[in-house]
Amino acid sequence: MSRSSIHKSNRVYVAGHTGLVGSAIVRRLENARFERILTVSSGDVDLRCPQQTEDFFCREEPEYVFVAAAHVGGIHANQSYPATFLYDNIMIASNVINSAHKAGVTKLLFLGSSCIYPKHAAQPIKEDSLLTGPLEPTNEPYAIAKIAGVKLCQSYRRQYGCNFISVMPTNLYGPNDNFDLENSHVVPALLRKVHEAKCQDAPFVTLWGTGKAEREFLHVDDLADACFVLMQRYDQSEIINVGSGEVVSIQELAEMIRAIVGFKGLIQTDPSKPDGTMHKRLDSTKCLELGWESKITLDDGLRNLYDALTRDASSVFY
Ligand SMILES: NC(=O)c1ccc[n+]([C@@H]2O[C@H](COP(=O)([O-])OP(=O)(O)OC[C@H]3O[C@@H](n4cnc5c(N)ncnc54)[C@H](OP(=O)(O)O)[C@@H]3O)[C@@H](O)[C@H]2O)c1
Repeated sequence: MSRSSIHKSNRVYVAGHTGLVGSAIVRRLENARFERILTVSSGDVDLRCPQQTEDFFCREEPEYVFVAAAHVGGIHANQSYPATFLYDNIMIASNVINSAHKAGVTKLLFLGSSCIYPKHAAQPIKEDSLLTGPLEPTNEPYAIAKIAGVKLCQSYRRQYGCNFISVMPTNLYGPNDNFDLENSHVVPALLRKVHEAKCQDAPFVTLWGTGKAEREFLHVDDLADACFVLMQRYDQSEIINVGSGEVVSIQELAEMIRAIVGFKGLIQTDPSKPDGTMHKRLDSTKCLELGWESKITLDDGLRNLYDALTRDASSVFY
């Protein structure tokens, strides 16, 4: 049972509220009728800046914090800007966690990623495989920054008794994702590419890599629900995985998207481009045992997302 039970009257700060994960956590809290959800734009408080971060915590006195602010991107962005991925994410994690400690935050949930696990970790990946082997080189700087965040949570717990937990989600998709073709993850990139190919009547769409790499996908609303449950029920130092168990190859994902979008051309691969880790599936037993389970299938999630994007005249699809 939790040492602290989050209540809808608590002051809850969601760092990164405009992003894929942060916006889903805000929706989840709003659904639960939380009355004091704190958010601030990166323009007003740059979480890479220690003073701005500390001033914000002092001023707003949040009781619970979800850390979904991060500099995030796919393989291309990670390879092009390794220094930015390492620096920004270490600074954000350090500043938010240290400020939360100083401000006496009751509980903090830090979001890591499944990319922190070793490249050749046994599948499905258990939490205790962290730091047992080399990382996937294409996103090593990002992973190192996220591991630093995990270690910060564990160290502040050990040294100061802070109730800070770390959650490792699998690959996510959903509303408010980044659809920039250079910097996005595979689901938004493919939805946009295939949609544009359909509009232009193109003969084919090319996938990065062999298409054989396998990924587990989770709808971000399911993740937000898991974060809400973990904020209520999980108080351990050990990291905890959150996955759907639904694994597909990138080629299969592209075929699903082709069917949903109604694209008549071919999906072809470009094996000269990197695949990243070939297999990635999380063992989410610990989270399942706490009573959470994913509810949105990949097919439903993709279909709803595509429908919403093509209905919204302000989306990148217009
Ligand atoms: N997307 C995935 O597939 C995935 C999978 C596993 C784990 N995660 C984890 O989930 C977390 C959030 O990812 P996401 O996909 O939601 O990212 P996202 O959509 O890119 O959103 C990132 C959020 O962080 C904010 N932010 C970035 N730099 C900031 C700064 N210097 N100061 C203040 N705010 C800043 C952004 O605000 P602005 O828009 O104002 O810049 C935005 O609200 C990350 O820790 C990531 O590791 C994501």
